[in-house]
Amino acid sequence: MPSSIDDCAAGLLAHDYVAERELACAVFLALRLQRPLFLEGEPGTGKTEIAKTLAALLDRPLIRLQCYEGLDMASAAYEWNYARQMLEIQAAKEGQRLSSDELFTRRFLIPRALLQALEMPGPPVLLIDELDRADEPFEAFLLELLSDFQLTIPELGTVSAAAPPIVVITSNRTREIHDAVKRRCLYHWVGFPDAARELAILQRRVPGAGEALARQIVGFIQGLRGIDLYKLPGIAETIEWSRALLELNALVLDPETVHMTLGVLLKYQDDIAKVQGSEAARLLEQVRVATHG
Ligand SMILES: Nc1ncnc2c1ncn2[C@@H]1O[C@H](COP(=O)(O)OP(=O)(O)OP(=O)(O)O)[C@@H](O)[C@H]1O
Ligand SMILES: [Mg+2]
Repeated sequence: MPSSIDDCAAGLLAHDYVAERELACAVFLALRLQRPLFLEGEPGTGKTEIAKTLAALLDRPLIRLQCYEGLDMASAAYEWNYARQMLEIQAAKEGQRLSSDELFTRRFLIPRALLQALEMPGPPVLLIDELDRADEPFEAFLLELLSDFQLTIPELGTVSAAAPPIVVITSNRTREIHDAVKRRCLYHWVGFPDAARELAILQRRVPGAGEALARQIVGFIQGLRGIDLYKLPGIAETIEWSRALLELNALVLDPETVHMTLGVLLKYQDDIAKVQGSEAARLLEQVRVATHG
């Protein structure tokens, strides 16, 4: 368990996660206060990764619940094993006695991610990923879990966590998450990194890209984020582009290579059309001036 914000930032860094100080502080406080951490922000900026990094850093198992439209309690928390119940009812008909109470006991319950997270002996990191994709009513299911680290199963009673799991919730903000959920969490907005942090991330994640190329990549992408595009590239794209450029044995950015590889950075034809040609040339010139002093 980290003892300070600096300690927390250093721990994350040791696992190749370069956190801005505000995020390190939010993580530190979430751990110390045992509150869920709610991360909202741009796509590809390290929200999911923080949960994975925390699991590695604290040496805890990671339990991941990927949210989607239509996600319900049966898929997220627990489900009664109807098949097994049916079999036992059948067996009971053939001789043994079986009361209906017995059908709703632990052995007929199939635990899913949320229940698993509560019942693990060593508290895991529980990642509830992309909550904005789930339907709004699903959020209500989470309230008891997030405030008391427990789950009430009507037929069975309340299951409480022996030790609270470390909960990370992420959202891409395709819709607002209900205040009741947010209130139970510590909130942090994960934005795009500044140039210095993006360079540090690149040096950690793609060490093969030399200093000169890495600086040019970061300069170009930072410039790109200043253009009015439908979908701006995140850190994930920066990393991917660097790997692509290495595959192409690029030592520096040149117009031809940029032209060929824009699809690694931009995933909408309108965005690509906007950047290709004169915009790309302008950004390249900016980068050239900045990196050659
Ligand atoms: N601060 C960081 N330090 C190191 N690597 C990072 C950082 N932020 C992002 N990355 C890298 O960027 C990639 C994308 O991160 P991640 O998948 O966590 O993004 P996300 O915010 O969850 O995106 P999405 O909203 O699309 O799910 C990962 O490969 C991760 O390693
Ligand atoms: Mg994610």
